[in-house]
Amino acid sequence: MIFRQLFDSESSTYTYLLADEHTREALLIDPVREQVERDLNLLKELELKLTYVLDTHVHADHVTAAGLLRQRTGARAVASHKGAPCVDVKVRHGDVLQMGEVKVEVLETPGHTDDSVSFRVGKRVFTGDALLVRSAGRTDFQNGNAGQLFDSITGVLFRLPDDTEVYPGHDYKGHTQSSIAEEKRYNARAANREREAFVQLMGNLNLPPPKKLKEAVPANLACGVISPTQTSSPQA
Ligand SMILES: [Fe+2]
Repeated sequence: MIFRQLFDSESSTYTYLLADEHTREALLIDPVREQVERDLNLLKELELKLTYVLDTHVHADHVTAAGLLRQRTGARAVASHKGAPCVDVKVRHGDVLQMGEVKVEVLETPGHTDDSVSFRVGKRVFTGDALLVRSAGRTDFQNGNAGQLFDSITGVLFRLPDDTEVYPGHDYKGHTQSSIAEEKRYNARAANREREAFVQLMGNLNLPPPKKLKEAVPANLACGVISPTQTSSPQA
């Protein structure tokens, strides 16, 4: 399998490219709209055909490239059945997407948002913002729920084999990957913490809202192809 981890420095978002080296079919997980030319160019250089674009959830901190990539390549947009209505394939826990020999298993991991999913591909799991390296996504907007996130992390992700490689949706400290074993031991929010203590901790983070919240959420509900005039709120 061809595998690349790509980074958008403005939003600290990781985008992942996975492809079957024989059929040359490719998928992108969490592509960023501002990086669409970079990603299309890489696909071209590697002689890959984009088949699927997967979003782990409706993002609040960047606009997805799913809609643009769909227009430019004919790829099908994939996300949770609880997420953006614009996608072509709405997935649920246990669903499998097959692309050549690349098999993507869907794990519903809500809590950061109610539509958050993780994608498991062989020994790798792409966790979006549910599980970050030594951290976990905030739960204070978009129907976030700290108790639900605790259940997703400990009841779904931490039950994967210890040597499963964890690839997060973001990192702000320069980490690129982790493993389930490492996160069970060292995750600063979830490791060795009871559910109630986790809920309390997440409720006291007092983080400022993401800079792009008002623009990104409505745009992402339309797969990122909404025009700027449509995104501005009437009160703004
Ligand atoms: Fe997020």
